[in-house]
Amino acid sequence: MIMALKILTAASCCVKSMLRPCNLCHSWEILFGHETSPRSFSFKYSIPPSAKYGGRHTVTMIPGDGIGPELMLHVKTVFRHACVPVDFEEVIVNCTSCEEDIHNAIMAVRRNRVALKGNLETNHNLPPSHKCRNNMFRTTLDLYANVIHFKSLPGVETRHKDVDILVVRENTEGEYSNLEHESVTGVIESLKIITKAKSFRIAQYAFQLAQEMERKKVTVVHKANIMKLGDGLFLQCCREVASHYPQLTFEGMIVDNTTTQLVSRPQQFDVMVMPNLYGNVVNSICTGLVGGAGLVPGANYGHTHAVFETASRQSARNLANKNIANPTAMLLASCIMLDYLQLHSYATSIRAAVLASMENKNVHTPDIGGQSTTLDFIHNIIDHINTVN
Ligand SMILES: *[C@@H]1O[C@H](CO)[C@@H](O)[C@H](O)[C@H]1NC(C)=O
Ligand SMILES: *[C@@H]1O[C@H](CO)[C@@H](O)[C@H](O)[C@H]1NC(C)=O
Repeated sequence: MIMALKILTAASCCVKSMLRPCNLCHSWEILFGHETSPRSFSFKYSIPPSAKYGGRHTVTMIPGDGIGPELMLHVKTVFRHACVPVDFEEVIVNCTSCEEDIHNAIMAVRRNRVALKGNLETNHNLPPSHKCRNNMFRTTLDLYANVIHFKSLPGVETRHKDVDILVVRENTEGEYSNLEHESVTGVIESLKIITKAKSFRIAQYAFQLAQEMERKKVTVVHKANIMKLGDGLFLQCCREVASHYPQLTFEGMIVDNTTTQLVSRPQQFDVMVMPNLYGNVVNSICTGLVGGAGLVPGANYGHTHAVFETASRQSARNLANKNIANPTAMLLASCIMLDYLQLHSYATSIRAAVLASMENKNVHTPDIGGQSTTLDFIHNIIDHINTVN
């Protein structure tokens, strides 16, 4: 039942950052030679809060478990060096067996409307009446769209090249409805809920996103051949929304075939949309395709709230406090957050620094085959930021 709340005010900032024109910084497009900008996926269905007096934003920070707290320290360090006008309100959620902490965290997100979050570990020894707190968080705040951009990174060796997939996952219902019971001894019923309203909502989100990102194709992942009613409804809603976007190619793909296609020819995918559990599976495969959990940022959007975290929902306790965790995913998540807050020039400059450091194999962490520490990597990023400034 312990929770701590403290306002951290960023250290005094260099004056020149206020004057820094945003085109000084390298952009993601320049580094990748691509036309798409990751900026656009922090978009529109969700309304970002405006800055307070003085142009500063307050964001809730939930460090979470495992490597979460150290990653947050690195984000704060990088923000300080890049003079980002964001103050963090930190909420410690460290009581696994009570719900008070998580309610406090939810209130803090309601207040600030934007959060950067580490993963909260789920204690599997607790009785089933204890809901997964990450899940509670997403459903209570109605963060219905989980959006992850899987893109091959420079300097990271992977089996497949040129992966560039936007995965939109329904985040609040489906198999994650927390409705399970033992109807008679030895018989469990686990309910998967698919509603027309929420299927439409996520389909509209995905097609709108595809249009804004100037994408060409949307693939809906389903198992409507077996779950004819549930997945059938999801597929039907997607098809109906697709009819309003004639310029986008619409494709349905059965989930098992999707996994085969992803590992054999991932370049065929552009934007994908799917119910909750398939999203979990597809995201895990895509994470592997682009180099692992340490690299990929993720975002969750509701109508008025947005929570940014790593794509992987693992807390990586085994890596905690060893100075070896890869901070890339969390730093890139913080960049998506800055874009969402319309702080584009800061997002661009931090992202450019992270990607430039990725290209330097001498500072790679062990997860991507390097021998450096987290701090070596962070120092390299800070050097890049200081050079550009
Ligand atoms: C939870 O966090 C608070 C504040 O940081 C700390 O004082 C307390 O010892 C922590 N409790 C546990 C169980 O880790
Ligand atoms: C799997 O998807 C591919 C690519 O769309 C398609 O060509 C193939 O026919 C599908 N296979 C099955 C068994 O559905």
